Amino acid sequence: MDTRYVTIRKAAVQSTQDEARSAFESHDRAAVLVIADRQTRGRGRLGAEWWEAPRAMYASLAVAPDWPEETWPRLSLVTGLAVADAIESDLGVPVALKWPNDVMRNDAKVGGVLLEAQEDCVVIGCGLNLWWPDAPSGFGAVLAEDPGPDVAAGLASSWADSVMDALQGSPDGWNLARYRTRSSILGRRITWEPAGAGLAIDVDVAGYLHVETERGIERIGSGRVRLVRRATVAPDQEAEDQTT
Ligand code: BTN
Repeated sequence: MDTRYVTIRKAAVQSTQDEARSAFESHDRAAVLVIADRQTRGRGRLGAEWWEAPRAMYASLAVAPDWPEETWPRLSLVTGLAVADAIESDLGVPVALKWPNDVMRNDAKVGGVLLEAQEDCVVIGCGLNLWWPDAPSGFGAVLAEDPGPDVAAGLASSWADSVMDALQGSPDGWNLARYRTRSSILGRRITWEPAGAGLAIDVDVAGYLHVETERGIERIGSGRVRLVRRATVAPDQEAEDQTT
């Protein structure tokens, strides 16, 4: 058991984000990982609702990082990478990462990461659809069969361990090289909301996406972006595919 954080398991909560934040306070500001089987009011980035799959991992890690606050946004990518690594090592399933925070399998979104900072505490949330036979269009799950209730806790501990490992190093020391190999958009044409299009050429250590656009190379921070889509280039025109 990792002693760098307290682990709390719950059957059902409104949002693991809120549970983790208040447990952080009630545990003398020690790092806390909250894992829930069900979430009744999960939230995604930019106020979006996070839908509940019939079998999922809902987890949030509240921690006071030693990293300077301006480096915290890159934790979104660090977390995405940690969860992708955990899925592959624990379940043997390869997944990709769509910048800034989506976990993808077969072009469907199977997971996402939410970062919420308050004073010296950051709450890093991760939602992962483990099994979802009738997922809405654009969404999916990691597994084709229901793995039962116990897989989520192991996965959550694996990603929390990796995030804590990364936080023990320097903010520039996280594994950017592996993040690049897992990216589903580098080398691809993309569009993003609110407005932009170009060729995704790199991600830097601070978590910015570099895109070659008609205005030159743009460095985009995740806070500016609502949604990234991969574009497919057809003769004489560019058409978006269904990737959310
Ligand atoms: C996104 O892709 O928009 C991020 C989704 C993050 C959802 C997770 S589920 C666990 C944690 N608790 C929440 O309320 N949200 C995050």
